[in-house]
Amino acid sequence: MQALENENDTKMKKVIAFDKYVLLTWIVMLGLCCQNKSKKTSETIQQSNLDELKHRPIYHFSPQKNWMNDPNGLFYLNGTYHLYFQHNPNNNVWGPMHWGHATSEDLLTWTEHPIAIYPDELGTIFSGSIVVDQNNTSSFGKEDTPPIIAIYTNHDHQGHDAGRNDYQTQSIAYSLDGGFTFTKFKHNPVIPNPGIKDFRDPKVTWIDKYNKWVMSLAVGQEIYFYDSKDLKSWNFLSSFGEGIGNHDGVWECPDLIELPIEGANTKKWVLLVSINPGGPNGGSATQYFVGEFNDQEFLIDEKFEKTMKEQHDYWIDFGKDNYAGVTYSNIETTTGKKIFQGWMSNWLYANIVPTTTWRSTMTIPREISLVRDRNTYRIKSIPVQTLDKFRNLLVDQNSVSLRTEIEKESDVPALETAEILFKTSADTNFRFALNNQIGDTLNFGYNQEKNSFYIDRSKAGITNFSDDFVKATNFAPRISDNSDITGQVLLDKASIEIFYDDGLNVLTEIFFVEKPLNELKITQMKVPGLKNFQINQLNF
Ligand code: FRU
Repeated sequence: MQALENENDTKMKKVIAFDKYVLLTWIVMLGLCCQNKSKKTSETIQQSNLDELKHRPIYHFSPQKNWMNDPNGLFYLNGTYHLYFQHNPNNNVWGPMHWGHATSEDLLTWTEHPIAIYPDELGTIFSGSIVVDQNNTSSFGKEDTPPIIAIYTNHDHQGHDAGRNDYQTQSIAYSLDGGFTFTKFKHNPVIPNPGIKDFRDPKVTWIDKYNKWVMSLAVGQEIYFYDSKDLKSWNFLSSFGEGIGNHDGVWECPDLIELPIEGANTKKWVLLVSINPGGPNGGSATQYFVGEFNDQEFLIDEKFEKTMKEQHDYWIDFGKDNYAGVTYSNIETTTGKKIFQGWMSNWLYANIVPTTTWRSTMTIPREISLVRDRNTYRIKSIPVQTLDKFRNLLVDQNSVSLRTEIEKESDVPALETAEILFKTSADTNFRFALNNQIGDTLNFGYNQEKNSFYIDRSKAGITNFSDDFVKATNFAPRISDNSDITGQVLLDKASIEIFYDDGLNVLTEIFFVEKPLNELKITQMKVPGLKNFQINQLNF
C-alpha cells in the first residue's frame, strides 16, 4: 500500500480539489468476455456443472465432492502444508465424519488426496490436530523418520443416540509416510470421557520451555488443559473460561498459541475459541483471549479481561463465515506469526447453501500476530504473503476517472478472482457495490456515524435458502482510530474477505451469484475520499 500511495498521491489531489463536497461515484466496468461466456451456459446444463462454473472457488480449498466442515490437523513439513478436514465422503450434508486431506506448497493452490482417517469401532472422527513428533517422544517413529501424530475426537453416534453423555473421547493415530496414511494407536482412547457431553477438538502443541506437550480441549463452555510427555498418557491440568468471554453457545475448536507483538520484541499467549451460536452477527464465530500460559494454566491478561467485558468485540473475524479456525503446527513466519485458516461457513445454514457437488470452502490462510491497542492487545490478520506471486495489476487509480464509466475491452476478465486495495478517509461513509449484469449487488463499506464496517449480501444472488443467511446487514465495530482506513478485499467467485486497517477488522462472507460480478461502483459521501485505489487480478 505504501508504494501505491506515493505513486498516486499527486494525481488524486488534483481530482479531489476539483470535486469538493459532492457525492463521488466511480464506476469500473469489467469483464465483458466473461459475461458472454456465462451466457453460453444454458439452462439445460447439469446442476453440478453450474456449481462448478458459478461457485467453485479458484484459490480457496473446497473438496472435489460432498461435505466439508472444520479444518483439522493443519501442519507443515518439508515444503508442504497439510490440510485435513471434517468430511462426509458420501453426502453433501454433515454426516459420519472422516478426515479428508489436501496439500499445498503455497497455501493457495491445493491437491486433494485420499481420505486420511476413517471412522472405527470407537466412532467417527471429529476435529483435532496434528504434530510432528521431532524427538520421537511417542516412540512411534522409525530410524530417521519422526512420526506425525494426529490427535482427534472419536464420536460414538450410538452412544449419542442412546442419550448417553460419554460418547466423545480423544484418540491418536500416527503416520510414517508424511501424513498420507495413519495407523490408529491400539490403546485408544488416550483420554476417556469423564461423563461430559461436549468433550472434543483436541489441539496439541509442544512447549519447549516446559519440555512437554499441552492439549487444549473444548469441554462444554470451557477449555480444559492437559499435558503429556509422550502423547499417549495425558494428565489434566486446569480449566479456563467460566464467566469470561461469550457464553451464548458451546465452545469448540480451541487453539493455544504464542504470538509475537508487533513492534515489541516479545510474545504473548493467545487462546482461540470458536463458539456456536453467539457470533457477533449470529451463529458461529471465533473469539480470542490474550494472557500467559504458566505451565499449568492459562491466565488471562487483567487489562484484556477488563476491556473484553466492556467491549465484547474480541473476534478474529466479524463476518458470518469464518468458523473453527486454528493454526498450522511446525511452522511460523520469519517474524514469528502463525498461519490461521478457518471454515468459510456458519452452522446456521452450512448444510443448505446452494451448491450440490460439494459443500463448503476454507478461508484464505492468514498470518496472525498481536498489536497493542490502548491498554490491551488485538489480533491482526493478513492474507498469506504467497498471494504476491499471483497478482496482476488490472486497474489503478490513474485509469479510473470520477463520474466516468470505464468499459474495458473483452480481454479483461470479471472481478471473480480479484483483489481490491484502497485507502480512504475515516471521516466519511463509503460504500462499494459489486454488481453483475442481472442486477445482483454485493455491498460493503463503512458507516461513519456507527463507526462500523458492514457487508450486505441480501441482494447478491441466491439467498432464499435461509432467512439467517440474509437476516441483517452484518456489522463490525471499527477497532482502529486512525484517520485513514485501509482495505484489502479478496474475491473468489463465491466469497469476499475484507481486511481493514491492516487486518485489525476482518469480515469474511460467502454469497452465491449466478453471473460473475463485473462492475464496481464506489460511493463516497464527502471529499476527501478515496486516496488510493487498485484492483489486482489474481491468476492461478
Ligand atoms: C465444529 C464442530 C466440532 C466437531 C466437528 C464435528 O464445527 O462442531 O466441535 O468436532 O464440528 O464435525
